Amino acid sequence: KTIGVLFGGKSVEHEVSVITGVQVMENLSKDYCVVPIYVKKDGQWLGGESLKDFKSFKNQDFSQAYPVYFKAGIPSLFHLQRQKGGLLKGDQLVEEERKIDCIINALHGTNGEDGSMQGLLEQWSVAYTGCQVPGSVLGMDKVLMKERFSHCGIQQVAYTWFKARDWKENRDQVMEKIEKIGYPLMVKPSTLGSSIGISKVKEEKDLEAAVDLALSYDKKVVIEHAVDHLRELNISVLGANGSYDLSPIEEPKSINDLLTFDEKYIHSNNKAGGKTSGKGGRNIVVPEEKVLEAIHTMARSAMDAIDGAGVVRIDFMMEGDQVYLNEINTQPGSMAFYLWEEAGLSFKDLLDRIIDIAEE
Ligand code: DAL
Ligand code: MG
Repeated sequence: KTIGVLFGGKSVEHEVSVITGVQVMENLSKDYCVVPIYVKKDGQWLGGESLKDFKSFKNQDFSQAYPVYFKAGIPSLFHLQRQKGGLLKGDQLVEEERKIDCIINALHGTNGEDGSMQGLLEQWSVAYTGCQVPGSVLGMDKVLMKERFSHCGIQQVAYTWFKARDWKENRDQVMEKIEKIGYPLMVKPSTLGSSIGISKVKEEKDLEAAVDLALSYDKKVVIEHAVDHLRELNISVLGANGSYDLSPIEEPKSINDLLTFDEKYIHSNNKAGGKTSGKGGRNIVVPEEKVLEAIHTMARSAMDAIDGAGVVRIDFMMEGDQVYLNEINTQPGSMAFYLWEEAGLSFKDLLDRIIDIAEE
């Protein structure tokens, strides 16, 4: 089987996606033929064996890489065309058509997680991992996600949202909605990840600047009640169509507890590249029965609510013993492999599972 691994991307989460992509390529079963497909920040698509190795990410050498083009219109086939001789000798066009059986989508954020790439892959008629278009759209746009979850009766912190136009033209109505929530508040652009454009606002005098910042990234702004004494708990869900496995639960030590590129390679003797509870790092917890039950029920409902598929990570917040669903990440960093390893499922087997789900 030929597996394309799509990573990088036109996204502020580009670097994180490179980590996920390299981890995926390193951990895929040796039975597969692996085709790296790297999307540069400017949107160019590159192929070539050299892209499997991003150890020197900061000065990555692209001289052995070649542009990748797609030929649409032939059902079930996915074609790459390449220019032989690398980027510098682009005059020599050699067509090499590779049938790709399944794309592992290791992209994060805008243009990779938001439904646009999923729509493109639908057009090529190629199987791909993760959610389809609707689930991806719902997972990436916080307004749509919250409205959907709220419709499905999933517990969330008090929130409201508004459009740029309302902030300009109907400020009084917007302020009324915000006052009902009560300070402190979190002010967020509706899309984007990695905490970009997000502010915590303790008093009304700081609200305007926070909204303006969020509006500089997006036309929609979400305002949430900020949970005091916040505890975060994350779980991963694996499956599709109502048949789900639930991973152990992690309480991240910091909000940005992603595997960094350095961590990945400094610990490169750890094949999976990760921090697991056993290897010192990941903070796996077993919450009390009632909390565990609430998390499991909400995690399943959330997956159903967006018709999710593949492997996702769902983030919860706790205030006292109240559990709130914060968000679903339809393309989780590192494919959340560290949570599945904890459950006895290797990264390799996790990848086999998401490929199987994609091809169903
Ligand atoms: N957006 C990052 C990759 C995550 O949620 O894991
Ligand atoms: Mg997220």
